[in-house]
Amino acid sequence: MESIRSDADRGRLAAQSLWQLGLDAGEIDDPLTPGFARAALAELEHLQKRTPGVLREVLEGAQMSAEQLNVESFHGLIEVVQNADDLRASEVRVAVRKTGGQSVLLVAHNGERVELRHVVAMTLAFVSTKRDDPRAKGRFGIGLKSLGRLGERLTVHCAPYHFTIAGNQVSAASAKRSIVGFYDAASTETLLELQLRPGFEFEDFATWFSGIGSESMLFLDTVRSLRLEGPGQKRAVAYHRLIKVSAETVKLPGHAEPCSRTTLREPRTGRTWERYEIDKRVPSRLSRRYKATAKTTPIAIAIPGQSNDSGQIYAGLPLGVTTHT
Ligand SMILES: Nc1ncnc2c1ncn2[C@@H]1O[C@H](COP(=O)(O)OP(=O)(O)O)[C@@H](O)[C@H]1O
Ligand SMILES: [Mg+2]
Repeated sequence: MESIRSDADRGRLAAQSLWQLGLDAGEIDDPLTPGFARAALAELEHLQKRTPGVLREVLEGAQMSAEQLNVESFHGLIEVVQNADDLRASEVRVAVRKTGGQSVLLVAHNGERVELRHVVAMTLAFVSTKRDDPRAKGRFGIGLKSLGRLGERLTVHCAPYHFTIAGNQVSAASAKRSIVGFYDAASTETLLELQLRPGFEFEDFATWFSGIGSESMLFLDTVRSLRLEGPGQKRAVAYHRLIKVSAETVKLPGHAEPCSRTTLREPRTGRTWERYEIDKRVPSRLSRRYKATAKTTPIAIAIPGQSNDSGQIYAGLPLGVTTHT
């Protein structure tokens, strides 16, 4: 009969199993207790330090390659929003704070909680927990690494998990106190804290953030609110929000699949969009590379209710490709 193990023992064994067998080897039953989390993080840190030299070089190469992706400098935030949407968050809050002369980018979301396997996937480039999930937008396990353009140390808080990722090394971090109106440490929310490099200009970031607009959320599954607070101020510098005004199922000429038509509205300006979405059957000869393929794939277009909006192509979030009509 198996002996009854403490949470700490189970945490240590779970970390060893993830490290030695990989994330796909089986489900980890994560009790989300401080004892389990603390022991698992300590064990991961220990195991990582003992990575054989040549594999360490491979991992460093992977990290560099993921960080070097040719994306605009603030793109990492888009990846964080996409991850929050994969975790069914409805709200993403962003702030920049100065502590001891250094600026920190804070992002909080109310999506599903961090579990042990996420710790490994967040730490190592090219490791993803999403390849078997056809609806999740992530696939390659490199999105988060594009935050490397903005800063080197990323600390993640989602009780009982508190850890810092520096480059591709994970280590335990201390818990964070609540930030009034921004992050409630007693909740199941997740807070990401990125130490920004010198040279980060809040004004440039705020301009970029304002520019992505509420329309950036048109094709997301659950995120409907995206707010940026300024340094040392409680007032939002930019607040993107969409509300669902109505939804109905309609029939589109030439398509057998039912179409769901949703009207979305930006409350601040009254701008509206009509989003038409069908779950199109995927031809059986097609499959996605390195990603589970479902029987159907969602295809959607949104038509702005105002005539001066330009067209954009999205894959969940805007791809930065405009279209002309
Ligand atoms: N906010 C988060 N909470 C929990 N896990 C996360 C979060 N963001 C990322 N992850 C984990 O880190 C992995 C890597 O994220 P990312 O680099 O964006 O790649 P991808 O989304 O393609 O998997 C994800 O597969 C997921 O397991
Ligand atoms: Mg991602």
